[in-house]
Amino acid sequence: MTARMLSFSTLHWDGVSLLCLLLLAASPFVLSRIYASYKDSKTQDGTESIDLSSKRPPTLPYYIPLVDHLIQFITDGSTLLSKASKFCGAGVPVRISLPGFSSYVVSGPEAITAFFKNTRDLSTTSRGVTVIQNAFGCPAHLAHHFKPRHSPDGTPDEVEQAIHRGVQTGLSGPQLEILAGKFQIALLEKIEASKHEIGNDWVDIPDLCDLVQKFVIESVISTFFGSYMITLNPNIVEDFLEFNDYIRLLFMGMPRWLIPKAYNARQRMVDSIQRWQKHARENCDPSTLGDVDWEPYYGSKFIRERQDLLTRRGILDEKARAAENFANLWAANSNSVPAAIWFLIETLRDDCLKKEVCQRISSAYLIPKVSEKHESQQPAFDTEKLCNDPLLQSVYAETLRLRVAALIVREAAHRDFSFCGWHIKKGEVLTVSSHTEAMNGDVWGVGKDPSSHSVDKFWSHRFLVNSADPHSGPLLNQKAKKAASRELSFSTDGLAGTWIPYGGGRSLCPGRHFAKREIMLTTAAFLTAYEIDLDPNHIPSVNMSHFGFGTMPPKGKLSCRIRYLPR
Ligand code: HEM
Ligand SMILES: *[C@@H]1O[C@H](CO)[C@@H](O)[C@H](O)[C@H]1NC(C)=O
Repeated sequence: MTARMLSFSTLHWDGVSLLCLLLLAASPFVLSRIYASYKDSKTQDGTESIDLSSKRPPTLPYYIPLVDHLIQFITDGSTLLSKASKFCGAGVPVRISLPGFSSYVVSGPEAITAFFKNTRDLSTTSRGVTVIQNAFGCPAHLAHHFKPRHSPDGTPDEVEQAIHRGVQTGLSGPQLEILAGKFQIALLEKIEASKHEIGNDWVDIPDLCDLVQKFVIESVISTFFGSYMITLNPNIVEDFLEFNDYIRLLFMGMPRWLIPKAYNARQRMVDSIQRWQKHARENCDPSTLGDVDWEPYYGSKFIRERQDLLTRRGILDEKARAAENFANLWAANSNSVPAAIWFLIETLRDDCLKKEVCQRISSAYLIPKVSEKHESQQPAFDTEKLCNDPLLQSVYAETLRLRVAALIVREAAHRDFSFCGWHIKKGEVLTVSSHTEAMNGDVWGVGKDPSSHSVDKFWSHRFLVNSADPHSGPLLNQKAKKAASRELSFSTDGLAGTWIPYGGGRSLCPGRHFAKREIMLTTAAFLTAYEIDLDPNHIPSVNMSHFGFGTMPPKGKLSCRIRYLPR
């Protein structure tokens, strides 16, 4: 279940305007949460000081009871989580509390490694059920179908395991390379077709992101869901983007009357997906397809097999099925597209880096075979070569380090247990924040010149190790340099509990290999096809209101001039 990754954010208040807040304060929705929180506070022990007798984790102090950390969470979630992580030093979970919901923040490499390893006591939360309903429009009476299912011994049941396996094999190995190839060709076709609007003369465009995300999202959708998802629903990218702007408010269950536009965008998405489901069902019988990797109706084998798994789970209602397909479509786009945009922006902003990156890209350029020259679009880049290049990998890893702000949430589902020596009760929730760890100054390497390569800045070489240079590499205390080689090599060694844009443990993002290919191919295709000049007077910044929801996009518009480079 994809939706579970954002379950924490069901109660994420970030970005809500004060007006909405005041309106909401009067609504039964909020009152019920405040009441729940009040009940909660009565039963909580050890809220003020560290209670060593029971070794209950401490709570981050707050000033206004009932509201607790809510205001801080709304205005600056990043600072709140970072405060919690530093409150008692590394390894001590610290409780933060919002009306009706509280969680221990887990921080520091050792504690996070323990967090990901302990699959016995820590499960993904059942809030995914709320999310599939609130965000993706599953009818309320059917949402319970999406609850994680267990065998009597507590392990995931047979269908759950089949889903887990399906997502792993569908997004790795030979199927992955087929998806990456499909994506590349779709993207190259769109860029090629843009020749009519963007010619060999400069044109000014108001927002580079608009252009990139339109092409990339369409390519991802046709790669996974086949050709008809877009031809049946020509406005799907616009609808998706509008929906995604409201995703935070939908996740937390803000009512329809407050955000009618959000519910309309969601409805248009659900309708589009149902149209696709009907069309595929009427025109294609999967049982006659055999083992094909991709066909135009269902798209990838991964998505086709998932339709069968939905049936095996007893999810037959078309709207409930659409909600699950929608969750997948969202997972495949929401994080990787802004990450691809940031990779391109960082490259364009630095002339030296741009030159180096262009060199690497051109060495991965494939000369079209003569026999194939007049056929339709061929792959232009050797994806494997791009993905193994040390510099490109470092730029990629650094982009995710700086821009991904995912909250990874687990629940003590079965019993009380001890976490790093602290007593956690059954039903309590632990949270890891990828961005907080990415900003941990005790861990990250800053090179020879700490002031210009501090953790809050983009540094393209942060993940490169040079055996001759003790300051190089992603760790402040780089233990072992890769031996002898004079070449720079890419490394994430020693970062298992620190570089965690994709989470970790059993629910480590299965889409990470595809995302890496998508991100690198996007920059390769754009830099090869176009010359792009960003507005030199504008320094791109991050839209922090996406904190907690995965990759944070750039804030505002990125105007630029662009022209097509003939090949
Ligand atoms: C830069 C891009 C991406 C980032 C930062 C990212 C991040 C994450 C994170 C943090 C989780 C785990 C949440 C948890 O453990 O609770 C996750 C799960 C997931 N992601 Fe991604 N993701 C990215 C791209 C993708 C892509 C391209 C796809 C699909 C093609 C995808 C599909 C999924 C799915 C299906 C899950 C749920 C896995 C499960 O529940 O076992 N992701 N992602
Ligand atoms: C930041 O993101 C929010 C949510 O998507 C959006 O409504 C807002 O317009 C964005 N702000 C800027 C300046 O881009």
